[in-house]
Amino acid sequence: MTVPAFSAAPLPGTPFIAYRHGQLMVEDVALADLARQHGTPLFVYSQAAILSALSAYQRGLAGRQALICYAMKANSSLALLKLLADAGCGFDIVSGGELDRALAVGTSPKKIVFSGVGKTRHEMQRALQVGIGCFNVESMAELDVLNQVAVDCGQTAPISIRVNPNVDAKTHPYISTGLTGNKFGIAHHHALHAYRHAASLPGLRVVGIDCHIGSQITESAPYLEAMDRVLDLVSAIEAEGIALAHIDFGGGLGIDYDGDTPPTADALWTQLLARLDTRGFGQRQLLIEPGRSLVGNAGVCVTEVLYLKPGEQKNFCIVDAAMNDLPRPALYQAFHRIEPVQQPASALEPMVYDVVGPVCESGDWLARDRTLAAAQGDWLAVLSAGAYCMSMASNYNTRARAAELLVTGDQARLIRRRETIDDVLRTESALG
Ligand code: LLP
Repeated sequence: MTVPAFSAAPLPGTPFIAYRHGQLMVEDVALADLARQHGTPLFVYSQAAILSALSAYQRGLAGRQALICYAMKANSSLALLKLLADAGCGFDIVSGGELDRALAVGTSPKKIVFSGVGKTRHEMQRALQVGIGCFNVESMAELDVLNQVAVDCGQTAPISIRVNPNVDAKTHPYISTGLTGNKFGIAHHHALHAYRHAASLPGLRVVGIDCHIGSQITESAPYLEAMDRVLDLVSAIEAEGIALAHIDFGGGLGIDYDGDTPPTADALWTQLLARLDTRGFGQRQLLIEPGRSLVGNAGVCVTEVLYLKPGEQKNFCIVDAAMNDLPRPALYQAFHRIEPVQQPASALEPMVYDVVGPVCESGDWLARDRTLAAAQGDWLAVLSAGAYCMSMASNYNTRARAAELLVTGDQARLIRRRETIDDVLRTESALG
């Protein structure tokens, strides 16, 4: 049988990660060279891919008053944050830790919005002190606590209420957030009441409204539906004399993992802006909170094949990356393409494998039933690994977290060194 030397099909999502002469390249750097130099598992990101994803949003929103607040939970590595801040982005944060990351890269606090259902008093105080742009409040109880914290600090907190529009984003249940059964936001039919309450509190200043319906959304229909429902509310709230300076439509746009066809950011926003214009809100200040669609397709994780283990029911390809490095398959049964880093030197028999890591759980898999021509010692690249991989990595099984590199043209810069076991053990004590 002739073995395909390497995948001839185009790789998902970005032209900046592609094969050249049998070598998988990130921009002008061969991943094999990086794996040799830095070891594996190794995350590698393309700066051009990130900036080109951002420019699709910037094109779509050109001429409007719009702020792109990158949802850093997708990938909060400081170098990526700095890149996006320098390109004009603000940030959507969900913890005090993320606030410190945003400040560490010199973001203006005014460009920060703080989302999340469980903000602590301490996090609120600190965000007030530094003067963030907006708290995206998710419950009546949070409104009251934030009011109290602000009054105690002698400040007024700028707020938006996250409205749950009860729209089905048609995505994985764990990452669908805009349905009545989800923990997020205040129900659409309670929102007017919540705004009245917020407007009556001395420590709060209403500045906007927000929603976020889910993640990895691949159609525009749910966005249009959510937009209509939010705009209905804006009219009702403003009819009561409560002005909303901005409307925040959240994030959620999907990426191509394996033949997914989400609209491009500029196509989506052309459609959404047309709807906003029709409804008379086209000049309103807009905020959006994209995460995955800015970084997801811009990164790969390189891993080494440790062992091939043929079995009676399954063949296993055991690699050195695991669910602690790439938790998405174990958590959401997510699909990531896996491709060889370099063209196999000799014809190998392709086999159907489950690609699994060294963690001691049957749930530790990266791919199931994949046809691969792989040999022990080969490097494989897990594609579309720029979002929700490194930021969700853990030390499970006392595995140190991977290193990260950012490629620009023919330069690769180390943006996070590989963790050592000393790093991992540093916060613990053995008592006696
Ligand atoms: N804004 C809010 C309030 C959010 O909750 C999220 C994501 C975003 C923005 C950014 O959404 P994106 O543009 O990245 O879809 N770990 C999961 C995804 C969780 C998303 C949580 N919220 C995964 O790996 O698929």
